[in-house]
Amino acid sequence: MKEIDVNSISTKELYQYLTSSITPRPIALVSTVDKEGNSNLSPFSFFNVFSIKPPILIFSPVNRVRDNTRKDTLNNITQVKECVIALVNQNIAQQVSLASSGYSADEDEFKKAGFSKIKATCIQPYLIKESPVNFECRVNTITELGDHGGSGNLIICEVLKIHINGNILDEQGNIDPLKLDIVSRLGSNWYGKTNENSIYKIIKPISRIGIGIDNLPKDILTSNILSGSDLAILASIESIPNKKNDNTIPLKREEKHTLAKKLIAKGKAMEAWQILI
Ligand SMILES: Cc1cc2nc3c(=O)[nH]c(=O)nc-3n(C[C@H](O)[C@H](O)[C@H](O)COP(=O)(O)O)c2cc1C
Repeated sequence: MKEIDVNSISTKELYQYLTSSITPRPIALVSTVDKEGNSNLSPFSFFNVFSIKPPILIFSPVNRVRDNTRKDTLNNITQVKECVIALVNQNIAQQVSLASSGYSADEDEFKKAGFSKIKATCIQPYLIKESPVNFECRVNTITELGDHGGSGNLIICEVLKIHINGNILDEQGNIDPLKLDIVSRLGSNWYGKTNENSIYKIIKPISRIGIGIDNLPKDILTSNILSGSDLAILASIESIPNKKNDNTIPLKREEKHTLAKKLIAKGKAMEAWQILI
């Protein structure tokens, strides 16, 4: 295991380790205005939702590593405590990357990156027409996390209004992850897509409490064939099932575990249990 003392490496190296490991990150495309009403648009992947009631989103523009200066988004938000946070799908990812260029404060990234402005209903900054979801936010607090190049500035925003493009909704009116087609930020120049191959479901009804891996029979728990993921699926049932009568030929332990693993992979956990008990 490589051990890294964070004080012994450069800010650039620290940035690389943190942002390449803490992945994937959602991307906020943040629209702000300064006190003269000039608009600015920039992406931030130090971003997430932190509360539902009140609805709180946070993001963090870090001070520029090269010269410890503040980003335009932070300067604007200090002047006008409002922002629009828009989500980024594959359609607009290249434009979003362009909007992250170091344009000067008097240049409007809406124009530079080819985005269209829509007037917001409660705040001054503009919505981004091309984004599938826009959140109108009031900025509640700005917390400086340090005074170095690379120090973050935590911006805590309260959502006032949500605008959702109807194209991303399913028949029940819920957001369909495949239609949303969200793009995520990984390390370096890598980005993540959302498609049939990159997403899957883990069914975990809140009403069900699994027996837990520690309650699995020793024979299963000590298997060299079943993985931690297989064990977790087996341990998600509420009690160990009873063996149903069958007339099949008895299998050796390895054979049983191999067959059970295949059944688990096909989503047939209860059939796997019948092989294992
Ligand atoms: C996808 C993406 C995510 C980014 N995330 C962040 C981030 O979380 N924090 C940050 O300070 N800069 C981030 N950047 C870099 C800023 O977007 C960039 O510094 C931009 O020029 C800041 O613009 P501003 O000075 O107009 O606010 C990101 C860039 C990209 C392309």
